[in-house]
Amino acid sequence: MILDRVKPLDAILAAAQRKSLHRSLGALQLMLFGIGCIIGTGIFVLTAAGAQKAGPGLMLAFVIAGAVCIVAALCYAEIASMIPVAGSAYTYSYATVGELLAWTVGWALILEYAIAASAVSVGWSGYFSGTILNEFLAIQLPQWLSAGPLALGGEAGGLINLAALLIALLVTWLLMIGTSESAKVNAVLVAIKVTALTAFLGLTLTSAYFDPDKFNPFLPAGVFGGFGTGVGAVGAAATIFFAYVGFDAVSTAAEETKNPQRNVPIGLVGSLVFCTVFYILVAAGAIGTIGGQPIMGPGGIPFPAGSEELALQCALPQHADALVCSNEALAHVLRQIGFSGIGNMLGIAAFLALPSVILVLLFAQTRIFFVMSRDGLLPEGLSKVHPRWKTPHVVTAITGLIVAIGAAFFPVGQLADIANAGTLYAFLMVAVAVMVLRRTSPDRQRDFRTPMLWLVGPATVVGCAFLFLNLPSEAMLVLPVWSVIGLVIYFAYSRRNSRLGRGIVEVVDDVAGEETMVPIHPPRQ
Ligand code: ALA
Repeated sequence: MILDRVKPLDAILAAAQRKSLHRSLGALQLMLFGIGCIIGTGIFVLTAAGAQKAGPGLMLAFVIAGAVCIVAALCYAEIASMIPVAGSAYTYSYATVGELLAWTVGWALILEYAIAASAVSVGWSGYFSGTILNEFLAIQLPQWLSAGPLALGGEAGGLINLAALLIALLVTWLLMIGTSESAKVNAVLVAIKVTALTAFLGLTLTSAYFDPDKFNPFLPAGVFGGFGTGVGAVGAAATIFFAYVGFDAVSTAAEETKNPQRNVPIGLVGSLVFCTVFYILVAAGAIGTIGGQPIMGPGGIPFPAGSEELALQCALPQHADALVCSNEALAHVLRQIGFSGIGNMLGIAAFLALPSVILVLLFAQTRIFFVMSRDGLLPEGLSKVHPRWKTPHVVTAITGLIVAIGAAFFPVGQLADIANAGTLYAFLMVAVAVMVLRRTSPDRQRDFRTPMLWLVGPATVVGCAFLFLNLPSEAMLVLPVWSVIGLVIYFAYSRRNSRLGRGIVEVVDDVAGEETMVPIHPPRQ
């Protein structure tokens, strides 16, 4: 039987103790990690794409995507408080639905964290080139240094996105030298980001330009544009879901958190609710002042965001100032309503703050790899902890290189949609894991219980599946292809090297309080 390798929960907790990471994070730092990850390229860059898909219905898209994330977060919070170890959805799946499915989840999380980190690095490079180099230093980077060879948007294509490559490597170094130093840098950058968005809200929502008529028609492309089309409010929700990716990173830091039973749920739900409210207001401020109607193509269907047809439309004078055509949507709005200087400041804030998003995503990815290697599914040398920095430095360096390569060669929009596909799969599996655990371990201690689980759990599963089906079809297809590659690796390497498969689990001797390596009978093959 290939589905019988379910890791005992006690063994997971004991194994975590054996190679434990230093516990240094509190509730506030966790929320800062969460917010540091959540607010980023999604709101600063992809708002324009969301408006092109849904018009003012973008606000509804934020509500839909936020609702799916909140129910998912409630599931995450229960399981993270039960299993406060690094590894997130991967670890939870290992303890419930078994090694094979856990491997597919860990494998999908690479899409979520590493690919998303690459996407945000590319988003950052746009602000770096546009605001810092062009606006302030009057330097124009040559095309071959500012975009990867696969860049979309009808451009000739570059050779390498040098800025994206360098920022990914810089953030990797920060993580390698230690969590607490990195968390301090992160806190400062979160403050800058939140200040910039607060200023945006203050200026737009009170502006003389704000006009309720700009929200009319509210749903120019309808609510549901059809599976795989990526338009309508639901299509926009599937893309703008990227703006929420990262709240779950909080749970991947559980093993480095003081009092995780209390702090992880606070960090998860708190950071998410904060960001959801912010996003809806930012969308209202942007659309209420300069409007956000999509540019319609044949048959009254919006041109696909990021397409060459849309780029041609945006080159026409009548669309020059459209929200949906802007690459720096929020700065653009402020410039349009007479606050050019503050618009540029917001551009600088994005330039300074987006690295905090990369930091949290990279952090999460390294912890997933760390735990997978500790389980023997990836080579065990990866989980070495540095004696002085107390970080898994080997796996951090390798992950950083992968992220930097992704950032150097691929475009932001594609990377974001692919990250969403992996994330939705992982969220779905977490909801399944919580429900399975309620059945299989009803008496185990839960410091946080998901309220109305039998409503919230299925709602998470249905919500994630529904958003997945509303992604553009190319992004949807990446997940099965990626999964097949993962399964080949699993059967060629991981299954044979798995510690659980070799019959090794670690348990804690309650009396002596010492860890003992206990061989158990290997599961039937
Ligand atoms: N949620 C993160 C962002 O929008 C990934 O950049």
